[in-house]
Amino acid sequence: MPEIPLTPRLKMVLGLIPDAESCWDIGTDHGYLAAALALRGMRVTATDVNPGPLGQARKNLIRFGLEDRVRLRLSDGLAAMEDGEADCVVIAGMGGELIAGILSKGTKNVRYFVLQPQSTYYELRDWMSGNGFRILRETVCREGQRYYTAMLTEKGPAPPLTEEEKHIGPVLLRDRPPLLGEYLASRRRETEKILEKIGGAETPRREECAALIEMYKKYEGEDG
Ligand SMILES: C[S@@+](CC[C@H](N)C(=O)[O-])C[C@H]1O[C@@H](n2cnc3c(N)ncnc32)[C@H](O)[C@@H]1O
Repeated sequence: MPEIPLTPRLKMVLGLIPDAESCWDIGTDHGYLAAALALRGMRVTATDVNPGPLGQARKNLIRFGLEDRVRLRLSDGLAAMEDGEADCVVIAGMGGELIAGILSKGTKNVRYFVLQPQSTYYELRDWMSGNGFRILRETVCREGQRYYTAMLTEKGPAPPLTEEEKHIGPVLLRDRPPLLGEYLASRRRETEKILEKIGGAETPRREECAALIEMYKKYEGEDG
């Protein structure tokens, strides 16, 4: 069987998925996460809203000899899921606002959600904070020049997140993992570029960016 080509980002996401019986991979695309979960012995459903990526997942699963161990569904988010059908849902490689949009349509009594937003982290955590999600674990990894974060969350009451926690992540701020400083430095540089583009224009975005830069600097040197 060919090896499943798992990048550091996908390995990080897999590392957060609890040893549950069943998992749905939402927005599966290539199907690598679903394939790796099937090899772990989980009951896996891989979904995508677009037929093209779902076909790609099917091809890859056949290549890995796992086509009988992963169920494929064309589905917008969790729409095709019955209530309580999965113990865990993974949504990776999408924008934070898109992930929040998917979850806002209903979470079908699923207990665990492993989420890996590619952008708009603040918006996702802000939505989660107001909608009963506890963040249990958070991790960061580097892939080439890019940094990614992911989180294991559980449905249930949780204290509201502070603004800094929404931007950076409550567990990252608490645990200060070794890559945190590099990760925040890269987010500071991105924000500095935005500030350069704004130049002298008077806009509220200017102050927002300046405040974010200060916040990133505050925690940059404080990783473990
Ligand atoms: C960039 S890929 C990420 C693939 C994989 N999850 C990963 O992390 O590498 C995003 C996938 O999400 C799918 N997608 C976007 N919106 C979706 C939705 N509302 N429901 C299900 N899939 C969606 C896209 O068709 C695409 O295949």
